[in-house]
Amino acid sequence: MTKLLFVCLGNICRSPSAENIMNHLIKQAGLSDRITCDSAGTASYHVGSPPDRRMAAAAKNQGIELLGAGRQFQRNDFESFDLILAMDRENYRNILALDNAGKYKEKVRLMCDFCQKYDLKEVPDPYYGGPEGFDRVIDLLFDACGGLLEYVISH
Ligand code: 4NP
Repeated sequence: MTKLLFVCLGNICRSPSAENIMNHLIKQAGLSDRITCDSAGTASYHVGSPPDRRMAAAAKNQGIELLGAGRQFQRNDFESFDLILAMDRENYRNILALDNAGKYKEKVRLMCDFCQKYDLKEVPDPYYGGPEGFDRVIDLLFDACGGLLEYVISH
């Protein structure tokens, strides 16, 4: 079983989208018994909250239902997961700041490292912008999740 954890700041926009898109692709590929997904935020502001309404609407437009409730990333996630996918560089730094001994550095990757079509290095934070930002997150995550699925299958 390969365990994937998607991490953003609030765990109400980008990382729940990544988790649910990835689950969709895993199901489509018939690999639900081999790969599992979860998501978390580096911040605690939205612990227990459902996904952002604007994010859920953008996901629904592309056939994805956003399920889940916010939770904060914690140190024992380093042990519990095989791969930890940070949505942007700030998330990446904040995750690794909890790995004092540098033991888990290889497990932590930037989500956009797995993009196949898009050239962006980060999934932009859509929280304070307009609806097009949320649509862009979904497009970008479909691309990155596709690449990530190929990576997991071949490793
Ligand atoms: P996320 O988006 O990190 O993709 O879940 C955000 C959610 C909440 C806030 C910022 C970004 N916030 O400042 O509350």
